[in-house]
Amino acid sequence: MEFVFSSLTYLLLIVLTAVLLFLIRDELKTKPVDDVVNMGLVDAPAPKAWPIIGHLYLMARYKVPYRVFDEIMADLGSVFRMDLGSVPCVVVNGLNNIREVIMIKGDHFDSRPSFRRFNQLFKGDKNNSLAFCDWSQLQKTRRELLRAHTFPNATSNMYARLDKCLKTELTEITDTIDGMADTGCVDLKNILLHSCANVFMSYFCSTRFSRTYGRFREFIRNFDDVFYEVNMGSPCDFLPGLTPLYSWHFRKIRAWSSKIREFMETEIFNARKAAWTPGTKPVDFVDNLLDAAMQPDRDDRFDLDTGLFSLEDIIGGHSAITNFIVKTLGFLVDRPDVQRRIQEEADAVIRASGSIGLADRPHMPYTEAVVYESLRLIASPIVPHLANRDTSVDGVRIPKGTTVFLNNYSLHMSTELWTNPEHYSPERFINAEGRLEKPEYFIPFSGGKRSCMGYKLVQLLSFCTIGTLLSKYTLMPVEDVSYAVPKGNLALPFVTFPFRIRPRSLKKQ
Ligand code: HEM
Ligand SMILES: *[C@@H]1O[C@H](CO)[C@@H](O)[C@H](O)[C@H]1NC(C)=O
Ligand SMILES: *[C@@H]1O[C@H](CO)[C@@H](O)[C@H](O)[C@H]1NC(C)=O
Ligand SMILES: *[C@@H]1O[C@H](CO)[C@@H](O)[C@H](O)[C@H]1NC(C)=O
Repeated sequence: MEFVFSSLTYLLLIVLTAVLLFLIRDELKTKPVDDVVNMGLVDAPAPKAWPIIGHLYLMARYKVPYRVFDEIMADLGSVFRMDLGSVPCVVVNGLNNIREVIMIKGDHFDSRPSFRRFNQLFKGDKNNSLAFCDWSQLQKTRRELLRAHTFPNATSNMYARLDKCLKTELTEITDTIDGMADTGCVDLKNILLHSCANVFMSYFCSTRFSRTYGRFREFIRNFDDVFYEVNMGSPCDFLPGLTPLYSWHFRKIRAWSSKIREFMETEIFNARKAAWTPGTKPVDFVDNLLDAAMQPDRDDRFDLDTGLFSLEDIIGGHSAITNFIVKTLGFLVDRPDVQRRIQEEADAVIRASGSIGLADRPHMPYTEAVVYESLRLIASPIVPHLANRDTSVDGVRIPKGTTVFLNNYSLHMSTELWTNPEHYSPERFINAEGRLEKPEYFIPFSGGKRSCMGYKLVQLLSFCTIGTLLSKYTLMPVEDVSYAVPKGNLALPFVTFPFRIRPRSLKKQ
């Protein structure tokens, strides 16, 4: 997550803080940290706070705000308080403390903070969202309905279905690129967004759209803008007083999501709803949603409206995966040696079975290590938790309503856990026997009851797509283009770095 300060907000903050600084200059001289012991618990220590903006001034200093967490941790220990504007937060660092939040005391921390900006995306109510809602029976139902689809096991029909959908779209990608007259500067992100959206559309909804269909193009653009938006922090999340400055921005956000909803309703949901007949064997996720929503006397408030929201939300996963894949390709573009090793693995699989499919995962440990290594460098804690009762972490008191940031930036980047953490090296995930090995402290998708619902899809789609692309092409930089991959954040702008693509042929053994 990156904090974007629009120039206006920034100016306002600077003026505001300069005035405050002047007014309170005596107060700023170190305040003693309050560590009164009470029932064995201590209050969270905090750095010096400024009135109104609290500790926000610390966040504005860094491109990757999580770096500031590491610095404060060195002073105050691994659980500390940080008031971001009017929002009381704590930052929890270190594997054991993070486990305490997501696993051991998962029930105490299963809510999410409410940011007005995110409410805009879900008809004014974050509870309509899979990722930003509080925990409830409804969320339990939604996660259970999704499980068979987002975590298909290797023997299920869903797994075979996903494999088929994926192969169709991968062929479509290579046909599109092969049909291009000029491959000197290709907008791969755009091509991959459409294909990945179609994998999701065909897998979850049994339909696909042409990449030349205008409404589909607009739908994809809107989704990618939303994904970028939710990956960015904004001062208005923490300073509700700034909200009037954001009314134009909020209107824009609402327009994106209402157009997405309109597409889903008119192109997919309405027809499926009309055709629904009770007792038919469900084939895709839409069938499961309709079956659940039409059940009378539900006690979890699951209905057609929440069904449609869940469907949209999960289809939006295509943007997360595409952004992740394009970032990974950005890492590979000036690493021909890494591309070559992926190509060797891909060639061997294709010689044996003709194409790369889900079942080839065990044969492509290096390509999977590339996925892990990219996750290590890219991933950032995008979804904060919220304490739903008075509780504690590592003996530090956490009052009800506190927003909890899990800082795994250090889990991914500390020199104590990784050799040369700044260095891109998939080999670190390959053990002496040449097999994939993941250290236990590497949890890019988190864990527990609010863990990522899409991580298996990320893994499956990423290695197949990257392997297939590199088996057919070598990627090269376009002159004068920067391939600096933003770290600590999953999103790329809609228009991002293009690639020079050179076709290659399968190496004979
Ligand atoms: C590289 C891509 C991705 C990464 C690194 C990632 C990581 C995460 C993380 C760290 C969380 C928060 C877990 C927590 O709060 O403890 C999360 C939540 C979530 N993710 Fe992902 N994710 C990715 C892609 C996806 C995709 C493709 C989908 C859907 C198909 C998805 C669906 C979700 C959902 C629904 C939640 C919220 C779950 C809940 O709050 O109950 N994610 N993800
Ligand atoms: C969201 O759901 C939770 C749990 O059911 C509930 O306590 C909360 O009031 C809801 N929030 C809104 C804005 O409806
Ligand atoms: C795999 O999924 C199928 C269908 O969803 C289920 O019946 C089966 O029990 C699952 N197998 C395992 C090993 O989980
Ligand atoms: C770890 O990082 C990922 C992405 O980097 C983030 O989404 C996730 O919430 C973090 N996990 C924990 C347990 O903090």
